[in-house]
Amino acid sequence: MRVPFLVLPILCVVVGVYSAPPPANPNLKPCGDAYYLSSQYTCYNGDFLCPVLNGEATLRCGLACYRPEMYGCVNGELVYPPTGGAAASSPGSPGSVTASSGLPAGSSASNSSSSGTAAAAVCTETPTTQHLSDPPYENYFYSDCHSSNQVVVTSPLPASNLSVIGPRLLVAWPAGNSGVLAYFSPQNGVNGSLGIQLVNGTANQPLSGVYTPANGSSLTGNPRVGISTLVKFNSSAYLTVPILGSVRTMRDFTEGPSILVPIVQDAIVFSPTSGGGAMLSRLWFDNITTSEMSFVPASGSSGKITINNRTLELPAGTYNFTATFDYPQLHQLSAPEVLNQQSQGLIKQYPDQTTSLSFLSYSQKLLAGAWRFLTYFGRDSMISVLLLQPVLSEGEGSAVEAVISAVLERLNRTDGSVCHEETIGDYATYLNLERNITSTAPGCTYQMIDTDFYLSPVMVNYFVNSAIGRSRRDAFLASTSTQDFGNQGLSYAELALINAEKIINTSAAFAQPGGQTQANLIHLKADQIVGEWRDSTYGIGGGRIPYDVNTALVPAALRAIATLSAAGFYPSHPEWNTSAAEYAQVWEDNTLHFFQVTVPLSEAQTLVTNYTSAAGYGFPSHAANITSDVVYHGLSLMGNDNQPIVKVMNSDDCFRHFLVNSTNQTQLTAFVNQTANNILQPFPVGLSNPVGLLVANPAYGGDAVYATNWTNSAYHGTVVWGWPMAMMAAGLQRQLGRCADSFPPDFCADSIVHGNVLAAYNHLWDIIEANAPDLSTEVWSWLFQDGKFVVEPLGALPGATESDIRQLWSLTYLAVMRDSNLR
Ligand SMILES: *[C@@H]1O[C@H](CO)[C@@H](O)[C@H](O)[C@H]1NC(C)=O
Ligand SMILES: *[C@@H]1O[C@H](CO)[C@@H](O)[C@H](O)[C@H]1NC(C)=O
Ligand SMILES: *[C@@H]1O[C@H](CO)[C@@H](O)[C@H](O)[C@H]1NC(C)=O
Ligand SMILES: *[C@@H]1O[C@H](CO)[C@@H](O)[C@H](O)[C@H]1NC(C)=O
Ligand SMILES: *[C@@H]1O[C@H](CO)[C@@H](O)[C@H](O)[C@H]1NC(C)=O
Ligand SMILES: *[C@@H]1O[C@H](CO)[C@@H](O)[C@H](O)[C@H]1NC(C)=O
Ligand SMILES: *[C@@H]1O[C@H](CO)[C@@H](O)[C@H](O)[C@H]1NC(C)=O
Ligand SMILES: *[C@@H]1O[C@H](CO)[C@@H](O)[C@H](O)[C@H]1NC(C)=O
Ligand SMILES: *[C@@H]1O[C@H](CO)[C@@H](O)[C@H](O)[C@H]1NC(C)=O
Ligand SMILES: *[C@@H]1O[C@H](CO)[C@@H](O)[C@H](O)[C@H]1NC(C)=O
Ligand SMILES: *[C@@H]1O[C@H](CO)[C@@H](O)[C@H](O)[C@H]1NC(C)=O
Ligand SMILES: *[C@@H]1O[C@H](CO)[C@@H](O)[C@H](O)[C@H]1NC(C)=O
Repeated sequence: MRVPFLVLPILCVVVGVYSAPPPANPNLKPCGDAYYLSSQYTCYNGDFLCPVLNGEATLRCGLACYRPEMYGCVNGELVYPPTGGAAASSPGSPGSVTASSGLPAGSSASNSSSSGTAAAAVCTETPTTQHLSDPPYENYFYSDCHSSNQVVVTSPLPASNLSVIGPRLLVAWPAGNSGVLAYFSPQNGVNGSLGIQLVNGTANQPLSGVYTPANGSSLTGNPRVGISTLVKFNSSAYLTVPILGSVRTMRDFTEGPSILVPIVQDAIVFSPTSGGGAMLSRLWFDNITTSEMSFVPASGSSGKITINNRTLELPAGTYNFTATFDYPQLHQLSAPEVLNQQSQGLIKQYPDQTTSLSFLSYSQKLLAGAWRFLTYFGRDSMISVLLLQPVLSEGEGSAVEAVISAVLERLNRTDGSVCHEETIGDYATYLNLERNITSTAPGCTYQMIDTDFYLSPVMVNYFVNSAIGRSRRDAFLASTSTQDFGNQGLSYAELALINAEKIINTSAAFAQPGGQTQANLIHLKADQIVGEWRDSTYGIGGGRIPYDVNTALVPAALRAIATLSAAGFYPSHPEWNTSAAEYAQVWEDNTLHFFQVTVPLSEAQTLVTNYTSAAGYGFPSHAANITSDVVYHGLSLMGNDNQPIVKVMNSDDCFRHFLVNSTNQTQLTAFVNQTANNILQPFPVGLSNPVGLLVANPAYGGDAVYATNWTNSAYHGTVVWGWPMAMMAAGLQRQLGRCADSFPPDFCADSIVHGNVLAAYNHLWDIIEANAPDLSTEVWSWLFQDGKFVVEPLGALPGATESDIRQLWSLTYLAVMRDSNLR
């Protein structure tokens, strides 16, 4: 494990602390002879103030303040790494009444800052850099001991659709899910004539880290960090739209209907810099953090930037571009820290994927994707850990524990729902402000119903099936929540119990004798049109009852709760050992048939032929390939326009194969067989396509609307996502693996069915291998050109959204690999 050298305490700061006499503000509280706002500070020992950062109270340690997830405190000295329970045992915890030996409030800063910052000013390790080209997007990553940065440069290509692709420079930071962006236009007015390029510095890459220790003008007491680079404009440019603050604010503009929020935009301060440059800065809604970006003509460049009515005018040439902020940083897990001991070899073998995995991995959480989802997402982290666990680090401070603790910290303690997406940093303060609440507290959304069910299978894999996990179990469960999501003081064991109670309660009705009705299946939340991974408008066709949740996630969660209960979890519910297993059996055996669609041979041929001509892409129908009835399972029940079942063939069988070992043999044989048949058949008969396994095939809908709702430009349309192929491959491998169990399932002895499943496994891997260059991206699509399907970035199709260059769950091929024994 790398020993971090960033032992920089967050120093006690005086800004925002008012000296006596007490000002009129009734919210100000006394601390020694100073006054403070409890939203911004905590008072220790009656006279020592520590700031609240990112909504989280920092703790006192001797004369310093620190974040418990970064440091421990032993005898008044900061230590790294933090040991469990550091917060509770630190000498200066709130409420402690020991005689004060600390400095009076507001007088501590200069004392220890020099030693703290000097130690951190130079990173001793080589920065980690990466360049990923995805024209017209060039992505650059830079991480050092001070900060983690992604820079995306967009420079339109001759073939680019200029109404979609504009010249843009964007920086994204995991800390606070924040960043800056700048859109440009050519001064000569000719769209497409402006090109932007980063210029290599030393080490043949363009980025350098920026680090300035906190100084007197800092309101946060944090160092100012970020990147600088030389950027070259091939023609004179206007900086038309700057955004400084949250990635969410940036996405609202780039993906939404170009939303610019006046109170965000108006807060940008434009100022000239020495050397003919210009600086844009914005104070966040927390009133202490500042994002900055500046352009300064590079040496040898004669141009001078003009600031005119909040627009920059930049002559053609090369500029030193710097983007920084002074927000608390996360601790990135290096590639050796993310991977377990046996998997360190992957770093040399797959440097591209392991570097990306490290960029998305932090001691407190894993992030879903770069740059658009550079923050916690529950489903993404848990699907990733389910698939990646064989290679991930385990134990205290590991990747696996980062995922589980992130989920528990963010759980809704009232109803046990797992957080889908967190809202942190400037956007959190902004949303609070919208509700007339003055607070920097982060928030969570809970609209997804699938996410609740991933937690217990993840816990079984770690705390029951892993030796390291078993040894960590008691200490981990005894940890109490420290982050500011409303669960402070609850133990991880209590939070896990609340989630399990929700699952038991919501699954009980269906499991009762005679309870196996559609009404008792798990529905989306009442006011939501999305609730599982296909979370776009027509993702599951307006259905209320999703296929993946009911046939796979519920039974898997119930089995896991039974296993955890048998292992001594949930001591208040020893009966779950048997009752949850009984529920699981009912859910395993009695849910598939609700979703099953059987299309008679001749009707299937007509439907596919009709769809092929209605869709109009010009690809062949392969209708003659259909030689028996087509069987598949629909995306959802209770769809739009009163459709009882949304008749879209799909890849969500992967959930059941990967998470459930069902035991009704008739049902299992038929189920594995239909999955195999649908994988083996080419789209639009089945799901196979030269560009990948499609997540949806609407050919059997029998309604023209299906062809218009599930297109090759829809987020969950006839497109390819990397991870469902990984989960399908892993799932088929698990089902085939059962043939070696002492009591193998019946299908293993049915030579046609077993042969079909083996053939499907290998066909799938052939497709995966043929698309290796795209596997780590989020989602991609195709065009049918010159009689062939060819890969097309989804973001390049009209009306589609920009895709992330790297997505956490698309990196799961580091662990999911072809089993050559199954060839
Ligand atoms: C920067 O250096 C890299 C690595 O040597 C090289 O591939 C790339 O072409 C260089 N870029 C420019 C703009 O010169
Ligand atoms: C920031 O300052 C403004 C103006 O004084 C105040 O209205 C607002 O409540 C402050 N916000 C926070 C989060 O403290
Ligand atoms: C400044 O820009 C705004 C919009 O960006 C525009 O409405 C206004 O007319 C401009 N003012 C001047 C003096 O050009
Ligand atoms: C760009 O500016 C930053 C901040 O002033 C400085 O640290 C860096 O050395 C400059 N880079 C170049 C290439 O001039
Ligand atoms: C947590 O769950 C309760 C009960 O369902 C709900 O009222 C509350 O709004 C949820 N909290 C959040 C932040 O959504
Ligand atoms: C916030 O306060 C403003 C002004 O008092 C009011 O108009 C608005 O309705 C309030 N918003 C909410 C969500 O309460
Ligand atoms: C398909 O989209 C249309 C709107 O374009 C909508 O009215 C219809 O309900 C959708 N049908 C399904 C099954 O999603
Ligand atoms: C489907 O039909 C095509 C010709 O249209 C043929 O090449 C292919 O082998 C067939 N595939 C299967 C699985 O029957
Ligand atoms: C197994 O499932 C089939 C339907 O697929 C059903 O007809 C049969 O009764 C089930 N068998 C048992 C033992 O539950
Ligand atoms: C499996 O699928 C094949 C079609 O490839 C079909 O001929 C066979 O009857 C199916 N077997 C079962 C048991 O469903
Ligand atoms: C196929 O298209 C034909 C001609 O438009 C139509 O008459 C027929 O009903 C369609 N069949 C199905 C099953 O949709
Ligand atoms: C299902 O069985 C396979 C083969 O024995 C095993 O690898 C897998 O872990 C099992 N899955 C579950 C959810 O128990």
